[in-house]
Amino acid sequence: MQIEVNHLVKEYKRKKDPGSVGKALASMFHPQYDVFRAVDDINFQIRKGEAVGYVGPNGSGKSTTIKMLSGVLTPTAGKVLVNGLEPSKNRMKVNKHVGVVFGNRSVLWWDVPVIESYRVLQQLYEIPENRFRQNLEEFTELMEMEELLGTPERQLSLGQKMKCNIAAAFLHDPEIVYLDEPTIGLDSESKYKIRKFIRRMNEERKTTFIVTSHDFQDIESLCRRIILINHGKLVVDDKIENVRKNFDRRKQVRLELENNPWNQKTVFEIPGVEILHSQESELVLEFDSEENDSIRIINLIAEKTRILDVSINGQDIESIIRDIVKQDNRK
Ligand SMILES: Nc1ncnc2c1ncn2[C@@H]1O[C@H](COP(=O)(O)OP(=O)(O)O)[C@@H](O)[C@H]1O
Ligand SMILES: [Mg+2]
Repeated sequence: MQIEVNHLVKEYKRKKDPGSVGKALASMFHPQYDVFRAVDDINFQIRKGEAVGYVGPNGSGKSTTIKMLSGVLTPTAGKVLVNGLEPSKNRMKVNKHVGVVFGNRSVLWWDVPVIESYRVLQQLYEIPENRFRQNLEEFTELMEMEELLGTPERQLSLGQKMKCNIAAAFLHDPEIVYLDEPTIGLDSESKYKIRKFIRRMNEERKTTFIVTSHDFQDIESLCRRIILINHGKLVVDDKIENVRKNFDRRKQVRLELENNPWNQKTVFEIPGVEILHSQESELVLEFDSEENDSIRIINLIAEKTRILDVSINGQDIESIIRDIVKQDNRK
């Protein structure tokens, strides 16, 4: 296994909310701490060449996990092994084979041309000149960023900056790359190019990826496997197609009808079938596929009017995940 995470825990000490001004003054001198468990006994393993989406609501512990994987933070308990080594104890050695991109942080210097920052990385990672050039050429072509290399970072747009940071993370031919919110706040054109680039690195170089993102288009277009965490605990670890199969219960039927007997109505005859939308010729129903089936619904409609067209859709992965989190929060 390239990456092994065993019973991983991270606790942060947080100053207690003093509750009143008087107590706040007192707490300046004797602050009281709470222990907050941001990552709570997580286990997973990742093989070389996998692309894993690490998802979960805000504050669920994704970035904290990535920081432990890259050795920035030391685990409170449990263990991370990357190529058999603990990143927090062998940071330089491990990170020789690892690239990291944090969506809200840049590795480039603010006021020197991007290429100068790349040269510093080249020295740091001891990248041979021909390898450096080959990579730079390939990356700039793939992400269409030739003209950015001579520009200082401060003159780049958010999307351009991210492209430059992503290229920076790949210059030393890493085996593993962690991407923490790589497309946050970006325009769709930049997102598209970045996804294309990452897919290419995964397919051609077999680079292993762990990607956290709010944008499920990132996850769907890049990852085959998903790890969902909630309140620091692992909830689902499976192939995306299995998550879809096992949890996609809510279905929508969209019908075009010659005339719609439910026009403007809000209640459908079969219990559990909701009318989402109903106009003269269009009817949209939603139901739980474990409680009802579409054939029965369509038969009932066909008895009353002529059906001109019908389509049935499942949930997208984002709303499936949202439902799983809701269910987990009720536990
Ligand atoms: N340095 C820190 N000190 C105290 N609490 C922190 C620190 N960093 C993160 N947290 C808390 O830990 C939880 C998980 O944070 P994070 O890993 O950033 O979540 P995510 O990336 O999933 O949004 C949050 O509740 C956050 O407020
Ligand atoms: Mg985060």
